[in-house]
Parts: sequence; C-alpha cells; structure tokens
Amino acid sequence: MTDQIPTGKFPAARMRRSRRFGWSRELSAETRLSSEDLIWPIFIHDRSEDKDVDSMPGVQRVSVDTLIKMAERAVSLNIPAIALFPSAEDGLKDENGTEAANPDNLVCRAVQAVKAEFPDLGIICDVALDPYTSHGQDGILVDGYVANDATIEMLIKQSVVQAQAGCDVVAPSDMMDGRVGAIRTALDAENLIDTQIMSYAAKYNSAFYGPFRDAVGSAPSTASRSGGKGTYQMDPANSDEAIREVAMDIEEGADSVIVKPGLPYLDVLQRVKETFGVPTYVYQVSGEYAMLHAAAEKGWLDLDAVMMESLLGMKRAGADGIWTYFAPEIANLLKT
Ligand code: PBG
Repeated sequence: MTDQIPTGKFPAARMRRSRRFGWSRELSAETRLSSEDLIWPIFIHDRSEDKDVDSMPGVQRVSVDTLIKMAERAVSLNIPAIALFPSAEDGLKDENGTEAANPDNLVCRAVQAVKAEFPDLGIICDVALDPYTSHGQDGILVDGYVANDATIEMLIKQSVVQAQAGCDVVAPSDMMDGRVGAIRTALDAENLIDTQIMSYAAKYNSAFYGPFRDAVGSAPSTASRSGGKGTYQMDPANSDEAIREVAMDIEEGADSVIVKPGLPYLDVLQRVKETFGVPTYVYQVSGEYAMLHAAAEKGWLDLDAVMMESLLGMKRAGADGIWTYFAPEIANLLKT
C-alpha cells in the first residue's frame, strides 16, 4: 500500500524521488570513476624475487620481470600510466644520492624494459633523492639541513637520465624551490621538449607516508636535523600556501600538478582545481591504503566499498586522475 499523502501538507520537491530506483540513481550520478582516471605506483628492486611490503597488504617490491607483467596488466585494464619507485640496495646509497644521476640505474633500466614492450603505456618517474641518500632525506645535506640549490643540481641530472631512458613524465616530489623551472630548462637543453613535468606542487609533510618509506627503505635517519621533512614539505595547517606553491610551479612550466596526500586534503584539491583549472592529480598515499586495508582485515570496513568511495570523493573534489595502489583492483571492479 502506498502512503496516502494529503496534498499541500508535504513538500512538492522530493529529493528521494530520483533516488528511489537504480536506473534513476545511475542517470543522475554527477561523478563517475573510470580505469582511465588511474595512475598505478609500483615499487621495484634489483632482485629476482618479489618481496611483500609488510605495511601495505597486496603490494610488493618487484623485479623488472614482474614489472613487465604488471605493465601488461595495466594495459589490459585500461590504466593509462604507471609510476615507478625504486628500492635501491644499501650499497648504492651515499650522502648525496648520486645513484639518482646514473643513466644505468634501476629506474632507467626498468623504463627501457617497459617501453620496449608497451610503448603506449605512460611511465612516470619520481624525481627526488630519498631512495638514494644514506640519510633518507629528499635532498643533499649541508650541516644537517637540506640545501635547496645543491639538491636541484642533482635533480636536474636525475630528470634528464630518466627522460633519456624514455619515461613520459618526470614528477618532482622533492619540494625544493625553483626545481620545476630548472628541470624544464635542463630537459629542453637536451631536446627533451615532450617530456612532461607533473609536479608534486602541494605536497604536505604527512605522517601518512610511513608505509611508503618502509617500501623503498628510505625512512629519514636522525642524522638529518629533525629526522623529518618539515623544512621542505608543506605544513598540514596551510591551504593558501598550497595556492602559492601551485602558482609558482605552473609559472615555471609544470604541465600538471599533484595534491598529496588525498583524503585529508580534499579541500586543497578542490581549491587548486577551481583556482587554476590545470590537470590536477591527487595521490592516495601509502598510509591511506594501509589504513583501509587494516580496517578491512579486522572486518570493520568493506574494502571494495571504501576504496571506491574514497576515490569517488577525490574525483568529486576535482581530481582529473588519482595515484593509487588500489589501481588494478579498482580497474578490475569497474570492468565487471
Ligand atoms: C619521495 C616520495 C614520498 C612519497 C612519494 N614520493 C615519500 C616522502 O616524501 O617521504 C610518498 C608516497 C606514499 O606515501 O604513498 N619523495
């Protein structure tokens, strides 16, 4: 029996009318997630065995052979791009992160191997020294302080070798001032004019990066002044500052920008997209991934549902694309 409603007594406008049936909810959905929105970050190492990352269930540090299989999976799932993060052997690390500039380093070899098999899959390389420094900081230390301009000299070399190896996008995540302009100039001087720069423009000094640092073995040691990255990454208290950071990177030639982390910074993401209208990406970082997995393992959350909802929230806030370790799972769910 349907409710008998006295006319005039209750509202004419009823939001629930269009929510009542599935077809109508589908039709009126404002935001949709697609596999083409995803960037899949992958950890690689120079070993033949893959190794689980304890704090990131389902994520491994993989060999280049396994990476090729993952690239194939990305292609088959319509994921447009992968991002490579190396876990360098301790013997390759030094104070200045010089391995970053080695044209034959693991990342460069991995890029070449993937490009040879899957030339149309986008490859993004991180630009920062933390995988290669013995102290785990993203830059070069002078008296325990990460020195801006000396670091940029090394970042330039790192960007050029990665671009020459064939990566499509370099993504500086180091937060040094002026690095986007310096990298653009250096790439152009090598005639690498089509290599894009996706800048981590608004990257916060976040505790949510913990599992990533386990994965690449780069937890900052206390040899560096505070052990933290607060002298270069942004203070989580700030939002106007993100707008300045993004404006500077665009001015210096960034093709696109990243807000990072994701869920706790959706306000920043929305402001950046609305203010600049440039391609804007968000990074659902390792701690966000670990958190959802941990709750699901306890049976407290439905993993598929919360990963979908968290990514949809990021798209709704304005993301053109999302970096997420869930990429293959999401793409797989969207297929069915
Ligand atoms: C390195 C870098 C970090 C992440 C991406 N690039 C860690 C850091 O800044 O300490 C974090 C990614 C994640 O947590 O998933 N510069």
